[in-house]
Parts: sequence; C-alpha cells; structure tokens
Amino acid sequence: MGAGEGVTVVAHPLVQHKLTLLRDRRQPTKSFRELLNEIGALLLYEVTRDLPLGTAAITTPLAPMEAPVLAGKKLVFAPILRAGVGFLDGMLTLVPNARVAHIGLYRDPATLAAVEYYFKVPPDLERRLVILVDPMLATGHSAAAATARLKAAGAKTIRLVCLLAAPEGLAHLRAEHPDVPVWTAAIDSHLDDHGYIVPGLGDAGDRMYGTK
Ligand code: URA
Repeated sequence: MGAGEGVTVVAHPLVQHKLTLLRDRRQPTKSFRELLNEIGALLLYEVTRDLPLGTAAITTPLAPMEAPVLAGKKLVFAPILRAGVGFLDGMLTLVPNARVAHIGLYRDPATLAAVEYYFKVPPDLERRLVILVDPMLATGHSAAAATARLKAAGAKTIRLVCLLAAPEGLAHLRAEHPDVPVWTAAIDSHLDDHGYIVPGLGDAGDRMYGTK
C-alpha cells in the first residue's frame, strides 16, 4: 500500500534522519528514547498543522494587536502502552497542557489480537481532539482496538500518529476506521511471521526500556 487517502508520510529531513538513527541496531537505549521523543515532537508539529486559529487582543511593548491563538478542540494524547509512551514527553514539550489518556493493550503472541488490560481517559473526550499514539503500526489490531475503545468512551475526532507503518496495518486500520487519518514517518515493506515490521527497528518497547 502507498500512502493513500488519509495517510500522510512525514518526509521532513529531520524526521527521516532521526528515524534512520532509531532503526540502527547499535543505537543505545538512552539515545533511542531521546530520539523517539524528538520525533514525537516533530510528528506532532505535522499532525497539528491544520488546527484552527482565532485571535486574542494583546499588547506588545510597542502596540496593541490581535494575535493568533489556538481556537479549536483541546488535545488529548493517547499513547498505547508501552511503546506509545516513547513519544509522550516529546509531544508534551510542544503542548504541555494536553491531557493524557493511557491505553494498555498487549498482543496475544499466538493470535496477534489486541487484549486490553488498562484504560484511563479524561471525562470529556467528545469535546477533544484525540491524538492516538502507537509508534509501530504492525497488524493494526492494537490501533483499531484502541480506536474502537476511544470511540466507545465518547471520542469523536481521532488522529493516529505512528513512527513506522506496515502496509497490512494501514489497510486494517483504514478499513475498520476510515474516519481516522494517519501520520507516519515511513511505510515499510511487510510484516514477518511474528508480526514484526520489516525492515522496521525491532521491538520498540524493548529497545526503549532495554528489556531484551
Ligand atoms: N511492535 C514492535 O515493537 N515492533 C514491530 O516491528 C511490530 C510491533
């Protein structure tokens, strides 16, 4: 699958350069985490590019003026545990007042289906723009399950930010939730027999936390 409708590949050179550093198996845990946060901020910059603006009356040291301010829905960042947390601090540096929803899902190793173990979201989801955060869109089962759960909890406007997407995952998510646009740094070749993205970067959670 190419980028296709509703899918934006963020080709910015800084994103692409940092992605290459992340893919490199020699990247130590500490810099892997730092790079993920940096890319999280850069991807957030792209996903918020069309947010509506209003104006506020302010006075500079020289003159009064009507100046642009964000006017749309307030943001919620919704990382899927645990790899989604890798983007969170980077995103919060740009929008420190965003609310954070945590979605705990793991992949059943046999079926690759998403199993929920934790779900905690702010109460007013229907009035917010939810940025779902899942760095590795592999089968798409976790992202689709998280999206369905967020909708059931009231979310009306959801955008997904990932780092790498497999064509299979993009197809699954877009089929289940065509109303959820996706931003990704790259679309890779395919999934292997264990559901890993190829060439990918391995297990993002393990590389973030040094658990393997
Ligand atoms: N999750 C990961 O962390 N890596 C993959 O390649 C696929 C899913």
